[in-house]
Amino acid sequence: MSEKDNAHHSEEVSEPISRRKVLAWLTSMGILGSGIVTLFSNLVFIKPRATYGQPSRFSIGTPDDFPPGTRIALGGQKVAIIREGDKMAAISITCTHLGCIVGVAETGFACPCHGSRFDQDGNVTGGPAPKPLPWYELTMAPNGELEVDKNKQITAGKWFKV
Ligand code: FES
Repeated sequence: MSEKDNAHHSEEVSEPISRRKVLAWLTSMGILGSGIVTLFSNLVFIKPRATYGQPSRFSIGTPDDFPPGTRIALGGQKVAIIREGDKMAAISITCTHLGCIVGVAETGFACPCHGSRFDQDGNVTGGPAPKPLPWYELTMAPNGELEVDKNKQITAGKWFKV
């Protein structure tokens, strides 16, 4: 029996209800379905993504490679390594405005594209940048080398003691 026949034979009163039920069912399946797709794509894609191109976790050498007072940009990894005394930090140098690479100076960071400025900790002090520069987790590997993990943002000001 075709759908047309079905509609024709069903009672006028019950039809809107059953139709509503079907619609509700389809909607919930749609929501569930998109949830499953999201879950699935997260499970499938998170790991491979981390291995493409520049690795998100990388070694930068030992603390001795960064004497106190160091503020240098690692251009390839798009991160600045800062050392003040026995405290170290890894701060993103990707501008939070439109993604240009900011310059690293004694006074902080400056973006050449639209003039955003950041203080030494990456807080916005001027220009169109909407957010501070993120800090990344810095850890010491068993071999004594420092590792930056760009997948792990930490609270600004959470220095790593060396
Ligand atoms: S991209 Fe840095 S200010 Fe626009």
